[in-house]
Amino acid sequence: MRHLLEIDDLSGAEISRVLDLSEVRDPPQVLAGKGMALVFEKPSARTRNSMEMAVVQLGGHPVYIQGDEVKMGVRETVDDVARTLASYHAAIGARVFEHEKVEGLAAANVAPVVNLLSDAAHPMQALADLLTLRQEWGGELAGRTVAYVGDANNVARSLALAAGLVGVKVRVGSPPGYQFSDTDLDRIRSVGTDVSVYDRPGEAVEGADAVYTDVWVSMGQEAEADERGRAFEGWSIDSELMAGVAPGGVFLHCLPAHRGDEVAAEVIDGVASRVWPQAANRMHAARG
Ligand code: CP
Ligand code: NVA
Repeated sequence: MRHLLEIDDLSGAEISRVLDLSEVRDPPQVLAGKGMALVFEKPSARTRNSMEMAVVQLGGHPVYIQGDEVKMGVRETVDDVARTLASYHAAIGARVFEHEKVEGLAAANVAPVVNLLSDAAHPMQALADLLTLRQEWGGELAGRTVAYVGDANNVARSLALAAGLVGVKVRVGSPPGYQFSDTDLDRIRSVGTDVSVYDRPGEAVEGADAVYTDVWVSMGQEAEADERGRAFEGWSIDSELMAGVAPGGVFLHCLPAHRGDEVAAEVIDGVASRVWPQAANRMHAARG
């Protein structure tokens, strides 16, 4: 049984196949008569809706479950929740605080588990990101460069791994204290990613074909908001910063976005922004 806990659970060839399947608008009804359990311990606009609609488009029935309803690890063990949900569903998706919880669901090995965002990873986002870039770049990803500027978080980690698996170079710029750890970089490099790290945003975006950012304060980090706000001062993606990208360079953001913090309105709402096709691609990539 296979699980998708982080994007490197797929090979580069498998990611390309998923992206090909994402373009199929009349998919085989592989989930006909089957269910998918979708457990959310955190809020979601894109992930819940894109996953639910992808399951419907594959002929299946999604069941949304609030984290508080099942209380994994509190009301009963993660393993018992996995066994219960697998009795009714063909697959389990989960959005959790601790990555160990999706690992726990997968360890039960009773249904394929898809990570719908944990503190460590966001693989479903990375698939949509690659799909968006592949469409932008005329079907060819290899040899391009994406610059991630901001918190080296779950989204950044999955993006860097995904990019490397399909031959996209990665430039990462983050302020001190919010950079990838050596362990992160080792793992990112272990899949073949050509990754370089910068401590100034201007250096990170230099010549990149795409610039990507995410929130400074992820879900669950709200108590650090003031401290993070100070650390990320000067790290907003504005049009001056975008002037340093390659001709035709685009802007991506997984959303939700905070205009005036990690990105200026002029960029996210400007001509280089591809955030709306990117958000729409969450559903197509999920179906793939
Ligand atoms: N990008 C993303 O995962 O958005 P949601 O948190 O709204 O699902
Ligand atoms: N890094 C953000 C991504 C939201 C889609 C978070 O974890 O809250």
